[in-house]
Formats: sequence, C-alpha cells, structure tokens
Amino acid sequence: MAAALWLLAGLVLVLLLAGARRLRRGRARSGPRAAPRGGRALVLTAHPDDEALFFGPALLGLRRAGAAPAVLCCSAGNYYNQGEIRKKELEESCCVLGIPPSNVTVIDHRDLPDNPAVEWDTQLLATIVLEHIEAKNINLVVTFDAGGVSGHANHVSLYAAVRYLHSEGKLPEGCRVLVLESVGLVRKYISFLDVPLSCLLPTDVLFILSEEETEQAKRAMRCHRSQLLWFRHLYVLFSRYMVVNSLRLL
Ligand SMILES: *[C@@H]1O[C@H](CO)[C@@H](O)[C@H](O)[C@H]1NC(C)=O
Ligand SMILES: [Zn+2]
Repeated sequence: MAAALWLLAGLVLVLLLAGARRLRRGRARSGPRAAPRGGRALVLTAHPDDEALFFGPALLGLRRAGAAPAVLCCSAGNYYNQGEIRKKELEESCCVLGIPPSNVTVIDHRDLPDNPAVEWDTQLLATIVLEHIEAKNINLVVTFDAGGVSGHANHVSLYAAVRYLHSEGKLPEGCRVLVLESVGLVRKYISFLDVPLSCLLPTDVLFILSEEETEQAKRAMRCHRSQLLWFRHLYVLFSRYMVVNSLRLL
C-alpha cells in the first residue's frame, strides 16, 4: 500500500516536472486580455525589493509584450534606516530587469512609512498614485491583490488605494488594473512546479519566465544586498513568484 502511494506520488511529480518544462520552453503564455502592444504599464510596489521578490515575471513579461513598464515604489524601505542604500539597490535591480532609472520612482513620504504595522492612508496614497498615472499617461496598473502576497500591511494598502481609484471611476479612461494573485503556502514555495497549476487554474493574465529569464530575475534580487538574509536566499530558490505571476483584472 505504502509503495503504491510512493509510486503515485513519484508519477505525479514526473508529470509536473515534464509539464513545467514544456510550458516554460513554450515561453510566456499570456491570457487573452494581456497587455496591449505599445501599452504604458506601471508596476506599483511598496518596498525596494518587491519588484524582484514578487513582480519579476510581470516586469519581464510586459517588456517582452512591448509594454515597457515603469516602477513606482511607494516607500524607501526605511524600516531599519537603510532607505538611502535601498533606493540605490532598487535602481540596480530595475536596471537588470531592463528598466532605466528614468522609469523608476521612489516616494519617500513621512506619512507612508515602511512598517508592517501601519496601514497607509488610502486617500493620500490614491492621490499620489493618480498623479503619477496621469503624468506618465499610464494605461495599465499592476499591483498586489487583497492578500498582498505576504500579507504585509503596506502591500495591502496599495491594493486598497488602487481599488478605490478604480471603483470611484477616478482612473483615466481606458486605464486597466491587474492585481497579482496571492496563493497559499504550498503553491507559494514549489517554484516552477506551480507553472502547470497556474496554467490550469482560471486567471486573466499569466506571465511565465523561461529558465534564462528566471536567472535574470534572480540577478535582480541579488542587487538587494542589504536584504539578502539567509531566508531570502531560500525564498529566491523556492518561490513561484520568481518564475510565474498570475494576475486578475479589477
Ligand atoms: C518608461 O515607462 C513608460 C510607461 O510605462 C513607457 O511607455 C516607456 O516606454 C518606458 N521607457 C523605457 C525607456 O523603458
Ligand atoms: Zn514589500
């Protein structure tokens, strides 16, 4: 009985591995309503390193789809007083991801502190984000969903602000919003084995990185030297967010 179970588990693993390889070699499969060619995308993050920890597949995938994204990071990541270092690391990381410094903006606002215990004010954040969207003539905003991937209060605040702009009709005409799906613990840490699952489950847009692109995303993460504690190395090894991003339209 136990042997049969192990055999079954082995078989499932082999199928997952084979599926993941094929799907990744087939390169980014984007959903039917993926970013339009020539789109102007904005990826909205809370901390310097969010772009590499969570949004690598979306950033590289958007660029591949011809919608060169800009990054708006809503804090300098100053929780441990490393704000200045972290801003530089963000620029380097974005450079590796093909985003020039001119398209990387950091908001360093007294009332938007990097702090897991602080919910950012929705109105203030929405005003700042909207200004940026209008100034850059953005037509696609990408950010966290209600789960904020890691549940960090600052991540969730971004979702609240963007949902507010969306539901109040304050976004410019034709500007769409994609939110990054938060998945459960098991799916979060099975790396590329989550690729076949992500393909099967319903979602609006899916970005899958090839093996070379995943290396590029890891290189971006390694720019965040002040953040490379042992558990972040484990994260980079095992997180699906280094390989696949599934997103939903608001
Ligand atoms: C900067 O971002 C904007 C908005 O997404 C985009 O249209 C533009 O092509 C980007 N520029 C570069 C050089 O990537
Ligand atoms: Zn963060």
